[in-house]
Amino acid sequence: MFLVIQEYYRNFENHKKILTPYINDKTPRNVLTLLKISLTLFYFSKKPHHAIVNDTVEVSKDLKKEKLVNAVLRTILRNNDKIKYENLIYPDFKKILDKIFSSASIRNYIYKTLFIKPCSYEISLLDNKDALYCKRVSILKKEITKGCFVQDIGNFEVINAIHSFYKDKKLIDVCAAPGGKSILLHSLGFNVFAIDKSQSQINKFCENINRLKIKLDIQKMDFLEKKFTEKYNSILLDAPCSALGTFRRNPDVTIKIDQSHIKKHQKLQLAMVEKSLKILNNNGFLVYIVCSFHPFETIDVIDKIIQKHKYIKIHNIDSSKMIKRQNGYFINPLAFKDIGGSDIFFVSVLEKKL
Ligand SMILES: C[S@@+](CC[C@H](N)C(=O)[O-])C[C@H]1O[C@@H](n2cnc3c(N)ncnc32)[C@H](O)[C@@H]1O
Repeated sequence: MFLVIQEYYRNFENHKKILTPYINDKTPRNVLTLLKISLTLFYFSKKPHHAIVNDTVEVSKDLKKEKLVNAVLRTILRNNDKIKYENLIYPDFKKILDKIFSSASIRNYIYKTLFIKPCSYEISLLDNKDALYCKRVSILKKEITKGCFVQDIGNFEVINAIHSFYKDKKLIDVCAAPGGKSILLHSLGFNVFAIDKSQSQINKFCENINRLKIKLDIQKMDFLEKKFTEKYNSILLDAPCSALGTFRRNPDVTIKIDQSHIKKHQKLQLAMVEKSLKILNNNGFLVYIVCSFHPFETIDVIDKIIQKHKYIKIHNIDSSKMIKRQNGYFINPLAFKDIGGSDIFFVSVLEKKL
């Protein structure tokens, strides 16, 4: 199911194009979805085509559209050799990406990584390193998952690029679970106080630190609700977001860009930055990160904050693997070409200078 869903979304525009001659505005949405699922199965599963048609027709009986479904699928199969899969990208996703990355070579590389198909779903660490690197692995053998926690290279790069700004090694990570960045910071000698409001995410975090045999102070709390008595010099805010930057692993994000939804994220992100600034000492550093490249969640958030709080100083980051845009930096996946690209993160370093 997981693989079908992945390919369904990765090829959303391809399937739309293939189906265009057979559908019109009146074709019910659920019939369209059913047809797209069948196309996904035709091209990405080992199930015989006739069995896929039979199953789909059976399901479409509930919708009283079995004749239409049968006719469309059989016609497509008859013309099978004429069907071409191209790198067609959902227009909204492409538009946003093009706004952020002005370099054509970076953009083309990112488009390409969206279509790299999974090379292996069950591997061992030793026998298929490429599969791991390409981040096309979702089901790791149990003995591996017991022993490790796979992080995207972009996660590492943001921490690598910003950790030296923090002068005080006592750090609060206010959206910490499942702990990727807290653990990286701990490995760099930070004494991390980690908080998160989600119990299920904290459970994963605890599994990770137990396996790694490290000690971190982890507390379940809502950052926005909590009344802090202490102030901090070092704060990490890895805010909840649309996760648009994880499009390779989660191709569904590419077609789910809903402006009003993203505006809601922005509201939450702004509230979290405001709260972080309240508990930040003068001359202290706040690092804002999101795994998104949507302007609403990245540049605009920082823009709004610096317009309002003139005492904020934005720092430059020294990294050859990131691209500067106004008040922050985006990970450049092309810089990780040798290992199959990376997720796209946005990061901005803020200093309180009263
Ligand atoms: C992007 S994830 C953090 C990933 C984590 N930093 C890592 O590197 O593994 C965002 C986290 O924010 C948490 N979160 C959302 N709203 C929160 C709130 N009001 N207070 C604390 N945590 C919150 C979510 O539960 C989620 O775990």
